[in-house]
Formats: sequence, C-alpha cells, structure tokens
Amino acid sequence: MEKENNNNWSGQLGFLLAAAGSSIGLGNIWRFPYMTGTNGGGVFVLLYLLVVLLIGVPLMMAEIALGRAAGANPVRAFSSLAPAKSPFTMLTATLLILGGIVMLVTDNPAGALIVGLIGALFLAIGWKTVGIFCGLVPIILLSYYGVIGGWTLIYTIDSIRGVNNFTTLEGADSVMKPILHASGNWKWGVIGGQLLFMATCLGISLAGVRKGIERWSKMLMPLLFILMCVLIVRGLTLPGAMKGVRFFLEPDVSKLNASSVIAAVGQAFFTLSLGMGIMLTYGSYLDRKTDIAKATLGVIGLDTLAAVMAGVAIFPAVFAMGFAPSSGPDLTFKVLPAAFNMIPGGMGSVWNVAFFLMVTIAALTSAISLIEPPASILTGELKMSRKGAVISVVAVCSVIGVFCALSMADWGNLSGVGEVVKKIWYGKAPGSFFDMLDGFCCNWILPMLGLATTIYVGWVWGSRYALKELREGNKGSLDNSIWLLLAGFKAKDGGHDRRYLFTFGILWGFALRWLCPVLVLLAFFNCIGVIKL
Ligand code: PHE
Repeated sequence: MEKENNNNWSGQLGFLLAAAGSSIGLGNIWRFPYMTGTNGGGVFVLLYLLVVLLIGVPLMMAEIALGRAAGANPVRAFSSLAPAKSPFTMLTATLLILGGIVMLVTDNPAGALIVGLIGALFLAIGWKTVGIFCGLVPIILLSYYGVIGGWTLIYTIDSIRGVNNFTTLEGADSVMKPILHASGNWKWGVIGGQLLFMATCLGISLAGVRKGIERWSKMLMPLLFILMCVLIVRGLTLPGAMKGVRFFLEPDVSKLNASSVIAAVGQAFFTLSLGMGIMLTYGSYLDRKTDIAKATLGVIGLDTLAAVMAGVAIFPAVFAMGFAPSSGPDLTFKVLPAAFNMIPGGMGSVWNVAFFLMVTIAALTSAISLIEPPASILTGELKMSRKGAVISVVAVCSVIGVFCALSMADWGNLSGVGEVVKKIWYGKAPGSFFDMLDGFCCNWILPMLGLATTIYVGWVWGSRYALKELREGNKGSLDNSIWLLLAGFKAKDGGHDRRYLFTFGILWGFALRWLCPVLVLLAFFNCIGVIKL
C-alpha cells in the first residue's frame, strides 16, 4: 500500500531511538523503581521481564506491523486491513453493551454511559472505533503529561537558580504544595511551565518526523543515559548506598503475589506506550527493510534498561540520606531532591539539575509521541496539513492542560466544575482531575484498546497476514526456534518444515491470540475491581 505521506524514519536507528524515547518516560522513573522495591525486588524484575516477553513483545510487534502494513494512521489501519463488519465486531459490540448494562445495574452510570456508547459506535462503524480512540486518548494523556512536564521544567530551572535547596520533607512540601495546588502566584507559574513544555513539544513536532522527532531523539536519548550514569555513580559512592540497592533489587519471594503479576501487566502497558496507536503510527513511518522483531526487542531492552538504571540512580541516594522511599510525584519532586540536597559537599543543586534535566528529557520524548496518532489521523483522514494538524493537537491539549494544571490536586481553583463532576459520579468524586484522567486512561482505556488491538491483529486482520508483514525485513529469526538454536541448526538447514516447529513466529501468533487477551483482561478486571487478585 502507498505511504500516505513522506514523513518517514531515516532507518532502523532513528525508529529505535524515537520509539525508545516514547516508551522511556515517567513510567520508568517514578513508577517502576518503587513498584519493584515493594513487590519483591529482583524477583519482580524477573516477573516483569516474563510479562514483557509474553505480552509486551508480541503486542508491540503487532502494533508496529499493523501500522507498517497499513502505511497509514490508526483510523485507516483499523479499517483498511479487514472488513468493517465481522462476527468479531458483533461479538465485541454485544459484549460492550452487556458490560454497560451490568455497570448500570451496579450503580456506575458514568461507566455505563461510556461503555454503552462505545458499544453503539462499534455497531455503527466497527473497528474504526478503536482507531478513533487512538486519536482521542493521547490527547487526554498529553493534557496532563504536559502539566507534569511543566513541573519538571520549573524544577530544572529552580535547581539551576539554586533555589530548590530544601533538605527536609517539610521543606519539600512547602515548595511542592503550591505547585501541585496551583495556588497563589504559582497559578501562573504552573500554567507558564506547562505552556513552555507544550511549546517545546510543538517546536519539535512541527519540524517533522525525521527532522524533528528523530533528530531530537537521537540527541536526547544518549544524553538521558549519560545523565543516568552520572547519577548512578554519585548514588553508589555514597556511604550506605547498598541499603538502597538492597531495597530495590534484593529478591524477596514473600512480597510477590498474584497482584504483582497484574501490577507488572499494567506497568508493561504504560511504560511501553502500548494500546493507543503510538507504536502503530511510528510503525507507519517505517520502511520495509527494517526488522520489526529486532527493533521491538531493542526498544523494550532500552526501556527495561532505563527502568532498572533509574532505580539504581534513585534509591541509593534516598536510603543513604536516611529518607524513606515513596513513589510517583512524591518520590520525584520531594524525596529525591531533598536527598540530593543532603549530600555533603554542597553539590545538591548539581545533582538536582542532572536529575530534573533527565526527567524533562524523558517526559519530552514521550510527550511528542502522543501528538503523532491524533496528528496523523487529522492529516490522513481530514486532509489537514501536518502543520495545521500538529498545531491543533497541541492547542487542544494545552487548553485542557490548563484546567488540569489548576485542578491537579483538588478542585479548589475550579469549584464549579468539581461539583458537576461529583454529581456525575454520584457523589463518589474520583479525587482530583489528575486522578480522574489518570485512572480513566491507565485503568480503563489502555487495557481496553490493547485488548482490541490484539483481537484485531490476531483474529480479525489475522495473525497469518501479520506474520507475513513481520517477515519483511526479518532475516529468518522468526522461523527459527529455541530447539533449532539449541541443536545448532537454522530453519533453512533443510528438512525442518517451518509449520511443524515451535518457531518464534508461531510462539508470537499464539501469544498474540491467546495469552495477551487473557492476561490483559485479567489485569483490566482487577483494575476496575471486578475480581480481586
Ligand atoms: N511510556 C511513557 C512512560 O513510561 C508514558 C507514555 C504512555 C507515553 C503512553 C506515551 C504514551 O512514562
């Protein structure tokens, strides 16, 4: 199929670094390290690797293959490779509508409305629905990702100015709280930071896929790893650093339970940027010479490396300075900067600049990837120019983002809106605006879209055709198998009919059609509380 635009990667390396840039983000820095520390350390890393191998690798390969085969945006990809209506469409629509009814009965009208509407849309336009969501979800995510990006910019600038020199958690709180609540003068500061961050994204994206995203990823990703190495050396050479390493990696099987598996599944989705058409869109910019299987392993390898390195960069300093570990924004914006400031020698602001620059880079390369699915839909389907599409997406996200910035912690700045939201949710307001968007995207939409993608590629388009796409550019590893490798043979060594062997290609198809949907569904039900593992 013809490529619909001339925006392409220059080659495998460009794609690899851009995709790694998308996947390495806040998920690696503020989610993975803590999750590992509290879920059994080294054992959790092994479990995570297993989950990534069973779900992450097959799903990422599927998304990229889908994008490259269609050579088009998500909406087109989900409508051009298979008939719009199939038994699976009807089945999915029926299940969705039934789900909506169950939710209505179980007192969740907002959920029922959303799920029911999606079901109806499915009945009307089939799998295109999934493509449309791939356009909408990144917009929601980018709206609040931009706010956090703004915070990282503010912290970087303040660390350079040397004003973030608190050494206690109370001190950290007095800096973080006004930012989080966008109170007082910080109202404008926070919005300014967010808009500056979005403007940077805009600048990079406007320059195009190759000259913008690829070029910046090629510069920023190595810098990110260098900064991480610097912080690791600093952390590990502190007295008492080993306590941190032990918290992070010491295997403790007793902390591992069924919910760790689910945590690993959720983490894999978020950190690998799966389930919202990003890898699909990046794949549509890819040439046919690139080996998708190899590139996927590269992206996932870099992402995992970054996650483990982040833990080794963070916890030694936290423990050596006598702080208790935490997760999320608290770890990044309070505990760690305080710990860096405590390091004797008065170099605290240097470590803080290094750290926040690293976080800003991680957030920036993830944020620019969120612009691509909606922008490519606007250029492909509505025939907008790339410039117009990128500007529209960034503008919409910036406007929603201002509301996010003002209501990240509570509804104080937007009390009227808060009341309405509480009414819709029948009084059980979902915490802050941030919690609402975050919970909605990560717990509901990502797994649902991921599930839809596995079903579409595995069953509707068909794993056979997807494998054909994967073979393009692949030098035969997909037709190899562990047994052949162990025996020292290669698939082409005659006599080994590829149909009879557990080749990697066959394992991939099996994982995509059976393992992924089941595990993702389990993770989803666990997240929304239908089952409790
Ligand atoms: N993968 C990014 C991270 O680890 C987050 C992200 C999710 C970015 C989805 C883009 C899309 O933080």
